[in-house]
Amino acid sequence: MASSLLFVVVLLAALSSPPPSAVLAADDDGTTHLHFFMHDVVTGSNPTAVQVIKGAGSSVVPGLAFGDTTVIDDALTETSSPTSAAVGRAQGFYMMSSQSGIVLMVCANLLLTAGDHNGSTLAVVGRDDVAADVRELSVVGGTGRFRMATGYVPVEDVQHERA
Ligand SMILES: *[C@@H]1O[C@H](CO)[C@@H](O)[C@H](O)[C@H]1NC(C)=O
Repeated sequence: MASSLLFVVVLLAALSSPPPSAVLAADDDGTTHLHFFMHDVVTGSNPTAVQVIKGAGSSVVPGLAFGDTTVIDDALTETSSPTSAAVGRAQGFYMMSSQSGIVLMVCANLLLTAGDHNGSTLAVVGRDDVAADVRELSVVGGTGRFRMATGYVPVEDVQHERA
């Protein structure tokens, strides 16, 4: 099996401002910090990231073209191990959106499935300059516990392995 896993640390601070109703049991200062790992499996028999558009634009690097678009349903887990406790899914897409370098437009809903956050979602968009050590995406909204959320998502590669 040739399965390529990209482990990404996501540290998220979602600030709900103001808590719209008693439905939300936010932390005392209204800020929630979440930390988890995203598994973007692009090859193998069970990929969670599948290219759905082959960009018609020029090749940015061999094998990657402007416009390439990948749909994802990536597992979010507690540790870097893909078999660790599931905390949610990242469902959305990323698109090659620069003509000079590997830069992705990321657009995803994070569905949380554990504990108090089960069933709540966060809407995340941003510019992912893959060459940068840490990339910052935006939390632009949410549902359930995260209704009206705003915040930010520092994203970092922690491991890139072939199993
Ligand atoms: C999350 O909510 C779903 C739907 O209500 C439920 O089926 C599931 O058991 C819950 N999971 C956890 C870990 O609480």
